[in-house]
Amino acid sequence: MVKSEKGTGELGINTMLTHCGNDPYAYHGFVNPPVVRASTVLFPDAATMATENQKYTYGTHGTPTTDALCSAIDELEGSAGTLLVPSGLAAVTVPLLAFLKAGDHVLFVDTIYNPTRRFANTLLKQYGVEIEYYPPHIGADIAGLIRPNTRVVFTESPGSNTFEIQDIPAIVEAAHQHDIVVMMDNTWATPLYFKALDFGVDITIHAGTKYPSGHSDILFGMISANEKCWKQLENAYTALGMCVNSDDAYQILRGLRSMGLRLNHHQQSALTIARWLEQQPQIARVLHPALESHPDHALWKRDFKGASGVFSVVLASGGKEEAHKLLDTLKLFGLGYSWGGYESLAVHVQLGDRTVAAKSYEGPVIRLQIGLEDTQDLIDDLQQGLQAAFAV
Ligand SMILES: Cc1ncc(COP(=O)(O)O)c(C=O)c1O
Repeated sequence: MVKSEKGTGELGINTMLTHCGNDPYAYHGFVNPPVVRASTVLFPDAATMATENQKYTYGTHGTPTTDALCSAIDELEGSAGTLLVPSGLAAVTVPLLAFLKAGDHVLFVDTIYNPTRRFANTLLKQYGVEIEYYPPHIGADIAGLIRPNTRVVFTESPGSNTFEIQDIPAIVEAAHQHDIVVMMDNTWATPLYFKALDFGVDITIHAGTKYPSGHSDILFGMISANEKCWKQLENAYTALGMCVNSDDAYQILRGLRSMGLRLNHHQQSALTIARWLEQQPQIARVLHPALESHPDHALWKRDFKGASGVFSVVLASGGKEEAHKLLDTLKLFGLGYSWGGYESLAVHVQLGDRTVAAKSYEGPVIRLQIGLEDTQDLIDDLQQGLQAAFAV
């Protein structure tokens, strides 16, 4: 915890990230918490065992390491509790399992991360949940889709790959009039750039795999809830036997310390590159909400404190061949999934899963994850890639 006369909420974000979750004097003054590898926890006597009257009882229920990370995230999110899960996708599926049952109806934004859709269309459907997709710009009109059995509205802003911004406060207001739980996949912004619970979201979801890890070497997820939803969420987690190991939790806590500085670099570099790309003749559009040209820029500016380093470009013409040529010519951008790591990545995006938000673009859509390399080197790489892709 931060030793300050000020409440933690008044401290700067990098100060918070430096101190959140830390309690050095709980462990001999060492700055970092110990990595406690655990299944069995011993009880001093039979009576304590019978009543489980001690802080730690079994590895699946938490260790000093996972507790340190949970309290760090609670400080950042302003949440009543945080759960740690083995991947970002698990951070999506666990809260849905916790709040939905057969006969319920759930509304998903159509621009969701594709594996979220796969989970909804397969397992949730199999368990008798009714699935419906809504367009990302629906705002307050979500009220028109609410049925007597609607239990959850699932949001993700910006949308995966196409970066539409949702009017989260308007959606929350409509949903809460019917006691519907609002969940948000907030991986792109992190709590640094969008503090979802302050906007009325009940449950916020993060793939810790991305910016919190920052090094493309850990799969991890975090789910944080407000007071109203915390107990139900935690009970489901315990029932599912979901947990993480302390080694990974430690690495995520370690990643948080530098996340503000890394995000700042990702943000500045991505924006410089996005502005440069906007000027290139081979580019029809840049899908980055912090650009003034983005149709949702005003909404982004109203609600977000920053932008991370992932956005897409729409090529002005061409198809798969040009997209592949561009990807194959890039030297610094790796071809791989995920984002939030220190290295730049590019992927040719497929949007064939969209239903109500389906639209046609001028050319192929390429998603770029801007890493921590020097910005000019990335621009030079993109320039030679674009020239090669459209060489006659
Ligand atoms: C928006 C979003 N949510 C969740 C995930 C899932 O994270 P993980 O790869 O850790 O399962 C991803 C992964 O790309 C993502 O982009």
